[in-house]
Amino acid sequence: MSESLLHSSVEERVAVVRLKRPKVLNALSLEMMAQLADVLERLDSDPDVRCIVLTGDERAFAAGADINDMADASVATMYERNQFARWERIKRIRTPIIAAVSGYCLGGGCELAMHCDIIIASETARFAQPEINIGVMPGAGGTQRLTRALGKFRAMELILTGRQMTAREAYDAGLVTRVVPVEIYLDEAVKLAREIGQKAPLAVRLAKEAVLKAWETSLSEGLEYERKLFYLLFGTEDQREGMKAFLEKRPAAYRGR
Ligand code: CAA
Repeated sequence: MSESLLHSSVEERVAVVRLKRPKVLNALSLEMMAQLADVLERLDSDPDVRCIVLTGDERAFAAGADINDMADASVATMYERNQFARWERIKRIRTPIIAAVSGYCLGGGCELAMHCDIIIASETARFAQPEINIGVMPGAGGTQRLTRALGKFRAMELILTGRQMTAREAYDAGLVTRVVPVEIYLDEAVKLAREIGQKAPLAVRLAKEAVLKAWETSLSEGLEYERKLFYLLFGTEDQREGMKAFLEKRPAAYRGR
């Protein structure tokens, strides 16, 4: 399936969604974000899609929100536009999303990668929140998600200077889970997505939900939440199948029920 600013395909239970505005380093226009929210929701409701890989191209994952959309905007325009409603829709996607990042991953691009669940980076990836250099600050979650991912002091330095982090630095800071040569970053992400795609899909979605809860709640509430989701999985066929297959020493055949 192709849309003008995105390309998406599904193979072996894994969807790959590619941002496609290469001339402007995949700057996230309002239209592109609308298409992205639509495509991700469609994939999220497709039972054959078990994991999603979101990527750009070698030069850029995305160099931020499109500055052309904002340069002359007033407070009222920005408020009425309510552009972050689309980001909220992306936040609610239940299928795991892996960001496969190469090149620039800046501003809204970095915030989009942080809406994903796992970030795989090529050695050429550069992460930053450079909004401070154009007179503003992050608006799609950067001050909150980067701080939770890196801790206050690293996040503060990056957000107040706009400095770019290398892939290796992002890995050392815990933002990125794998750094691989640029030739294989997308394959690596797809391979990981296939591995996740083999697991019991309801367990995967609920586990994602529980991990995300850890960002938003206290430890005791999070533990309570986790326990309820854990018990819930005992109402699924896949729990029976997974445990039976283990005891019978055979691979499990999950059906997402
Ligand atoms: N919006 C619109 N256009 C952008 C863009 C952006 N965020 N980033 C790059 N482009 C465009 C450039 O204007 C240029 O277009 P033209 O060829 O028509 O001139 C094209 O992409 C290529 O970019 P450069 O020529 O600048 O390439 P470079 O290699 O010299 O520099 C760069 C690359 C360092 C990424 C530089 O383009 C840059 O600094 N971009 C802006 C980064 C930025 O400030 N991002 C934050 C945006 S605000 C935001 O994201 C708010 C939020 O929280 C939601």
